[in-house]
Amino acid sequence: MTEHPQAVPADGGRGPVHIAQKFGRFTEHWSPKIIAEANGWQFKLVKASGEFVWHQHEIDEVFLVFAGNVTIQLRDAEDVALGPGQLFVVPRNTEHCPYAPEECHLMLLEPAGVVNTGSAPGELTAVDEWI
Ligand code: NI
Repeated sequence: MTEHPQAVPADGGRGPVHIAQKFGRFTEHWSPKIIAEANGWQFKLVKASGEFVWHQHEIDEVFLVFAGNVTIQLRDAEDVALGPGQLFVVPRNTEHCPYAPEECHLMLLEPAGVVNTGSAPGELTAVDEWI
């Protein structure tokens, strides 16, 4: 676990969070943006495109899709195809690799401090920031 750079968003975390507006505030792929935190968990928006990297985490990781499609490839199980409105929990210590044929807008829900590339740090490792 690493420290996240900002503990709270600029507005102090008060007020409603407009998810569609938040998606409009960044363009990078595979670079999670934190939009809320509750009970030690963070809600992160991600724009996925193409294939990520095979990795695993020591925690369960929740994927919730808002737009587009993503396939969660699993090393030891069938791929899981997700579309808008669909949610999937990748169990802890399960090697996975998301793949989005076209840009996909999704939310990750996971404990604060989780690094996107988990066990496989590299070029795609991102420092999560609040937006
Ligand atoms: Ni992951």
